[in-house]
Amino acid sequence: MIRYHVPYWTSSIMSEVSDQLSVNPFQSHEQLAKSTTEQFKDHFGYGEIGYQYFLSSATAALEVMALALEIGAGDEVIMPSFTHVSTANAFARRGAVLKFADIEMETLNLDPASVERQLSQRTKAIVPIHYGGIPVDLEAFQAIADIGRCVVLEDASHGIGANYNGKALGLHGEMGCLSFHQTKNLTAGGSGGCLFLNSPELNQRVETIISHGTNRMAFLRGEIPKYEWCSLGSEYEMPLYQLLFLNRAVAKMEWITKRRVKLWNLYLNSLRSLTEKGLSFSSRSSENGHIFYLLLPGGVDRKAFMGSLLEEGIETSTHYTPLHTTAMGIQYGRGPNRLYNTETVSERIVRLPLHHLLTEGELEHVVSKIIDYFK
Ligand SMILES: Cc1ncc(COP(=O)(O)O)c(C=O)c1O
Repeated sequence: MIRYHVPYWTSSIMSEVSDQLSVNPFQSHEQLAKSTTEQFKDHFGYGEIGYQYFLSSATAALEVMALALEIGAGDEVIMPSFTHVSTANAFARRGAVLKFADIEMETLNLDPASVERQLSQRTKAIVPIHYGGIPVDLEAFQAIADIGRCVVLEDASHGIGANYNGKALGLHGEMGCLSFHQTKNLTAGGSGGCLFLNSPELNQRVETIISHGTNRMAFLRGEIPKYEWCSLGSEYEMPLYQLLFLNRAVAKMEWITKRRVKLWNLYLNSLRSLTEKGLSFSSRSSENGHIFYLLLPGGVDRKAFMGSLLEEGIETSTHYTPLHTTAMGIQYGRGPNRLYNTETVSERIVRLPLHHLLTEGELEHVVSKIIDYFK
């Protein structure tokens, strides 16, 4: 079976984690987080990072963003409908109205023109995702946010290893996040995420929110004699053993990225001729090889296509159900009833196997079966 995805882990990482835990199972999260941030700088060329928090997931990071911005009832947040539910839940649970915007067919990224149409005086944030790690047009969104006096929050859950204008995804908006879920290029042992931000004022709120809503961190720094409840918050930190896993796995990131990008390019070069048959692919190249997708032409039965590949031992995957078409999306969302590109993509997308263990031979097998199918 050619698996759609295989998470990155090695037995040596596992034994290093277990050795570390057996020496000291309760070591300082703060020290380990600092050393992991240094690793991010070394291995991703992250340059200056204002603040980076390692949290239990990107979902947690998005929730912290919504709390830190004090988003509440009546506020509006613009986001793609073609995204994971976590992008929406974080803001819906604060009482915000979700304004779903459409995506561009060329990249499956949020379309600035559609976002502009959703902007209002109540807009508090624009939350683009970098689909498959291909950067959205951040400058365009920042210009729209400046007009609307709101902020850009980057959901860079797919974005590890990719850049926009030479700076890592996640570092551009008012706040940004990465996901280390096992489906991503780099995992923190199954799940995990991180939050980036620059503003010291927002940072004060964030460190309170992730400390159960207390000023415990200020207390630990010796700034106050005791700590107490001062905002809404929760337990959001990444568990120690996962942070240890991530700390070790980051070192392999350049290798993982290079391998995935090589495979991504091989897919594109081998399948490009199928555009004649009406298939389409990302029009932009990938810097992190997170997702390789094809869009089937109208009228092709996707279930039959995926079924025929499965019979050949090839696992494939569809992707998001448009949020604006779900019961929750209808309850919490506003905006056009139809988002044509989003709906078309959701019906026609097929994601192909792509992971660090996929061999060139396996990729050729996938390609040949797809080409045969469209002969
Ligand atoms: C765009 C997007 N945002 C958020 C998430 C949630 O990430 P996590 O599983 O780390 O909470 C995902 C998960 O796949 C995602 O694709």
